[in-house]
Amino acid sequence: MARVLILFAHPVLEKSRVHRRLVAATPRSERVTVHDLYEEYPDFDIDVAREQRLLLDHDVIVFQHPLYWYSGPPLLKEWLDLVLEHGWAYGSEGDALHGKVVLQAISAGGHASAYCEEGYNRWTIRQYLRPFEGTARLCGMTYLPPWVVFGTHRLGASDIEAWGEAWSRTVGWLVDEGWRDLEPDPNALLVEGAEECAPWPPPGVPEGVQPERAPNIARNAPVGDVPSESREP
Ligand SMILES: Cc1cc2nc3c(=O)[nH]c(=O)nc-3n(C[C@H](O)[C@H](O)[C@H](O)COP(=O)(O)O)c2cc1C
Repeated sequence: MARVLILFAHPVLEKSRVHRRLVAATPRSERVTVHDLYEEYPDFDIDVAREQRLLLDHDVIVFQHPLYWYSGPPLLKEWLDLVLEHGWAYGSEGDALHGKVVLQAISAGGHASAYCEEGYNRWTIRQYLRPFEGTARLCGMTYLPPWVVFGTHRLGASDIEAWGEAWSRTVGWLVDEGWRDLEPDPNALLVEGAEECAPWPPPGVPEGVQPERAPNIARNAPVGDVPSESREP
């Protein structure tokens, strides 16, 4: 069983709908640590030694945050800049994080079908998150395909509730080391065409008219059963 560290970064949690639910739904267990970066470091005064100790004490590192300008909130960037030190996390002698697993758990206002070549955001979420993936890779960690709640603005209360349950199962899956079943290729998670894009707009839809639903949103394979009512365009 793995120890999971959730590095949670949300600058305005009081306004959050999605992450507030995800945090509340996170299984409380001695194997799961939820570390709220904005609560711990409101002045961005990060305790590097403490963060490094936390990293060493866990096997799976989760970056949980809303997508802000196709990336993470600023404190998360500051955390990466300060904590992943040369000679510790990377470099010829920096092997402290080797063998650990990273999952990025994010929410995005944009719909799934917007995140593809034909969509209005042009690139996939995985492509936007490449700096995180590259960072994990450089530090010798395995980067799992991102866990994404898309189309947050259109989610109703029951959708968000269902996403909370899905997240709870995903954290359980991480504790149970579910990713090991994916070896040798963690990208096996990308089932159901998750790296493909639904055309935008889909064929036959007049310009300017958005369809009710887009067919592809299956980026959350760890849980297996993403709530169907959340499958938004
Ligand atoms: C400053 C800012 C930047 C944002 N940038 C993006 C973005 O680049 N792509 C996107 O899909 N949504 C973007 N959003 C929408 C948020 O991702 C969305 O509101 C959030 O994931 C909802 O989660 P919450 O209810 O926990 O706050 C942005 C929101 C804010 C406030």
